[in-house]
Amino acid sequence: MIARQSAGFFFALFLQSMSMRHLLSSQQLSVENITEILDMASTFLTPTGLQPTAQRALVDKRFVLAFFEPSTRTRLSFETAIDRLGASSVVFSQAGSSVEKGETLQETIHTIEAMGFDGIIIRHADNGVHEQVASYTKMSVINAGEGSTAHPTQALLDASTIREQFGRIRGINVVITGDLLHSRVARSNADVLSRMGANIAYCAPDQLCPHDAQFAQLRRFDNVRDAMQWADVVYLLRIQRERISADIVPSLDEYRKKYAITRELALDQPHVMIMHPGPVNVGVELDEEVLLAKQCLIHRQVTHGVAVRMAILEKIFSDND
Ligand code: CP
Repeated sequence: MIARQSAGFFFALFLQSMSMRHLLSSQQLSVENITEILDMASTFLTPTGLQPTAQRALVDKRFVLAFFEPSTRTRLSFETAIDRLGASSVVFSQAGSSVEKGETLQETIHTIEAMGFDGIIIRHADNGVHEQVASYTKMSVINAGEGSTAHPTQALLDASTIREQFGRIRGINVVITGDLLHSRVARSNADVLSRMGANIAYCAPDQLCPHDAQFAQLRRFDNVRDAMQWADVVYLLRIQRERISADIVPSLDEYRKKYAITRELALDQPHVMIMHPGPVNVGVELDEEVLLAKQCLIHRQVTHGVAVRMAILEKIFSDND
């Protein structure tokens, strides 16, 4: 395991926050930075999708997408964002690469850098990898998901989705439900949304509650039905079936009784918006019919993912040109 980010490192990032070179964590962003990114992202959106005309702000920039863990949404939306900005990208796959012959991450990064790329978008299972890579590469490093600690672009796209839905983030009640213990999304979302003025609560079985100081003072609900009386947004997190079969949480039936958004619960509380970073475990944390409900923002989140990632890339490269 690689060491967590040091306070000094974030202070250095803070000092350079007006000209952002990397995006390693949501904590490096000020409220003004976040607002600027959301404002820029909103210009790429229409009420039902993305602006038909792509931007060409990053012509000649070249990116590598290096995903050491599986991804659909994050990887494809970064590829789409890069394409819509007029830049180019290639995908590095660990499977079939020299990593399988024992090449270190540092040597892999230096090899990629030697091919003249401007930015590298990394997803990795180890906490602290992104900070380490940023310390030894000239490329801009963008965090596309890091261990259990950080998924900053997910938090920004979720903030963007909430702001569009309610016209504001301040004062919105958001309850994060499910496996918070293992969730990088929960940590980045709690950081971004609370600093943008949302009220955050959580709802999870004891075995999946986070132990971080970040959550210690937050309101906790015992079941999602009660949470929906308070919430404007229920933000569901994926429960892996293996955690249920390994007795980490009660049986599937018990879990669903307390924490799942069923069709009936959604119909009962139509004013409560439902969000999820994906991938969704249909039949565990929510019913299939919920995906089609008007209050379900899950696919709109994906659209915001493209717009927000365009805004982040444009900000990093316009700041540093
Ligand atoms: N939300 C998210 O990170 O999804 P992917 O794993 O599909 O990228």
